[in-house]
Amino acid sequence: MDARSRVLTRLADLNLSLEPNAHVELGAGAVARLPQALAAVGQRRAFVVTDRGLRATGIVDRVLDLLREAGIETDLFDGVEPNPSTDSIDQAAEQVRQFGEAAVVAVGGGSALDAAKGIALLAANPGVAADYDYRAVPQSPGRPIVAVPTTAGTGAETNGFGVIEDRTARCKVYLGHGSVRPRQVILDPELTLGLPALATAATGMDALVHGIESLASRGANPFSVAYATQAVTLVADSLVAAVEDGSDLEARSRLLVGSHLAGLALSLSGLGLVHGIAHAVTNHCGAPHGLALTSVLDEVMSRSVPAATGPYAVVATAMGVGSSASSAEENARAAVRAVRELADRVQARLPLRELGLQQDAVAAVARGALADAVSSNHPRQFSQAEVEQVLVGAW
Ligand SMILES: NC(=O)c1ccc[n+]([C@@H]2O[C@H](COP(=O)([O-])OP(=O)(O)OC[C@H]3O[C@@H](n4cnc5c(N)ncnc54)[C@H](O)[C@@H]3O)[C@@H](O)[C@H]2O)c1
Ligand SMILES: [Fe+2]
Repeated sequence: MDARSRVLTRLADLNLSLEPNAHVELGAGAVARLPQALAAVGQRRAFVVTDRGLRATGIVDRVLDLLREAGIETDLFDGVEPNPSTDSIDQAAEQVRQFGEAAVVAVGGGSALDAAKGIALLAANPGVAADYDYRAVPQSPGRPIVAVPTTAGTGAETNGFGVIEDRTARCKVYLGHGSVRPRQVILDPELTLGLPALATAATGMDALVHGIESLASRGANPFSVAYATQAVTLVADSLVAAVEDGSDLEARSRLLVGSHLAGLALSLSGLGLVHGIAHAVTNHCGAPHGLALTSVLDEVMSRSVPAATGPYAVVATAMGVGSSASSAEENARAAVRAVRELADRVQARLPLRELGLQQDAVAAVARGALADAVSSNHPRQFSQAEVEQVLVGAW
């Protein structure tokens, strides 16, 4: 097999269940089609889930007006915090149970979208958020979710599982169920025009890492590779432009489509150790997800080249730095350099100490990273000592 075909699992060994993707409405101004999205899930009532930061931009009030003008009864929960916790989901669950039968309309970045999944499950089931780990089987399907992402992004609109902080256990848990995978998705790049430069850079790097980790994942398959390759191409092609000029609608559109494709990819393949480490870092110091990822990305990639030569060579081609005259390993190394340069250009690569991580937390963060379920998809197993070296190198 050549370097490119090593991207794929042996197809003769592959067993895959492919679900149809959500209905997607894509385009500048597509948010106006929200009432139709609600009708498509059979609901005339909407429980809107968002965060206060987004509310301050006016986007949430626009959404509420759109729904009310269409005669849809609404209620609002705007208490989702960045890197949401089981606490805020439990709080929202009380409110949604009182509101009664409704679709959940998730408006925001990954935090609001992920919280909405727990809220939609608890709206139809007893108990508290911590009961709905991804392995649990709920009594009833969750309420239908209509997702309106406003960052580009986590791609959280493509799956039914939220990354939620359990403050008591001090770890990230994956809450959700297939029934709360958003059924209707509105991808409106105009909603992302006001995202500040650093948040654009951080969330764009998240999408890029989804593409890269999906390509290199042990769970990669022809479907995920197709989505991930185009995701890396679109994000690498547009991130600098979107950060330098937030009003560039073409760059915003490419980023939003890229992040959605990266979400489809990761949902099929799983992610890897960069996510495992970033989740543990965020648990310890609250760093934004995209910045936590970027701080360790090139350290993890450069140590993974021998195990991920083929996939990283695909990354190099997708980022426009690959060469047919070079070996797969040279292309893989070029990908690592290109990722670092892109992160630096958009000023998203910060040392872990600047993200607030204490040096004496390194051992505990490394243990948390290796215990995270996503890390098991990494192309090679890192030891505790190696993860500590990554963290010290990025500190
Ligand atoms: N489920 C998944 O597949 C998945 C994948 C990756 C990450 N995540 C999770 O997603 C969360 C991070 O999501 P995120 O990076 O999108 O950030 P976020 O949702 O926390 O939003 C960051 C900030 O940006 C603001 N914001 C959002 N959209 C805006 C806009 N258009 N204009 C101005 N401000 C805006 C928000 O108010 C918030 O203050 C983390 O909890 C992470 O673990 C989930
Ligand atoms: Fe992510």
